[in-house]
Amino acid sequence: MLDEVLALLSPAAKQSPLPVFVDCTFGAGGLTRSILERIPGSRVIALDADPAAVARAEALREQQPRRVTPVHANFAQLADALASVGVGSVNGVVYDLGLSSLQLADAARGFAFAGEGALDMRLDPTSDAATAAQLLATAKEGEIADIIFEFGDERNARRIAREIVKRRTRSPLRTTSDLVAAVLAAQPRGARGKRGTIHPATRTFLALRMAVNAELDGLARSLEAAIACVQPGGRIAVISFHSGEDRVVKHQFAAWRRTGVAETLTRKPLTPTQTEIAANPRSRSAKLRGTQRTRAPLPRSA
Ligand SMILES: C[S@@+](CC[C@H](N)C(=O)[O-])C[C@H]1O[C@@H](n2cnc3c(N)ncnc32)[C@H](O)[C@@H]1O
Repeated sequence: MLDEVLALLSPAAKQSPLPVFVDCTFGAGGLTRSILERIPGSRVIALDADPAAVARAEALREQQPRRVTPVHANFAQLADALASVGVGSVNGVVYDLGLSSLQLADAARGFAFAGEGALDMRLDPTSDAATAAQLLATAKEGEIADIIFEFGDERNARRIAREIVKRRTRSPLRTTSDLVAAVLAAQPRGARGKRGTIHPATRTFLALRMAVNAELDGLARSLEAAIACVQPGGRIAVISFHSGEDRVVKHQFAAWRRTGVAETLTRKPLTPTQTEIAANPRSRSAKLRGTQRTRAPLPRSA
């Protein structure tokens, strides 16, 4: 959806001869590179919570020192992150939520049910936040069930939570395969061995990752900071992969439209073409929404 994101962001560049964009999710840097290539004179503040992604942004800065400013930060702290590099207002803010393929492929991070790794799942493994293993060791059964149900939309959430709690009394769940084994053991009899479209642990892993990183709260807080730093005519674009994330974006954009501080640019979310899905199956659940800041002052709670 690179072309669509660029089409949403590019008009914001007309506001300034040297437009500044914030890529809140630098990842492997594909989106930042496209902004630099296609928007002349642009500069990108490149945020990521993952130090490995920030190291990639630093490598890009070596090539384009004046145009890339890497910042190691969670986008929930967007205002502080921009202040730390002396940036007050910007022309556009973009989010490409979730994980990069590099994070998924690194078994040691604990994000993927395929491969053996410690149950970490923190976007920033250098932070002192609790890991997925710590969460599973300490949360009450009901809390674990709520996380798996609400973030993972998993109908076996209660059975999976019960199985996790049963197993942890014998021995803590430490690795991705410990969690996969618990999820598989919690499958209802008829479902075991059934050929489904997704692995039975997919939703549980997604839900835990979202809880470990407080992803929905972080997104809501970040959007509040984004609207406050975007200049009139500036744009915010968000690609999400999860219905909960899309709901946060949709409701926030609608609230801004009602208060007059931003105009929604995408009445319905844009979705990838069949060709893009064929080339990159992970893109199938992507939704892109965009909004444009107006000149109206921000009300206190916008
Ligand atoms: C889907 S990847 C981005 C891919 C990127 N657009 C590219 O072209 O390579 C998502 C990235 O966002 C980062 N991320 C996710 N949530 C974040 C957060 N709350 N704060 C900062 N970075 C975050 C992840 O660490 C990951 O590197």
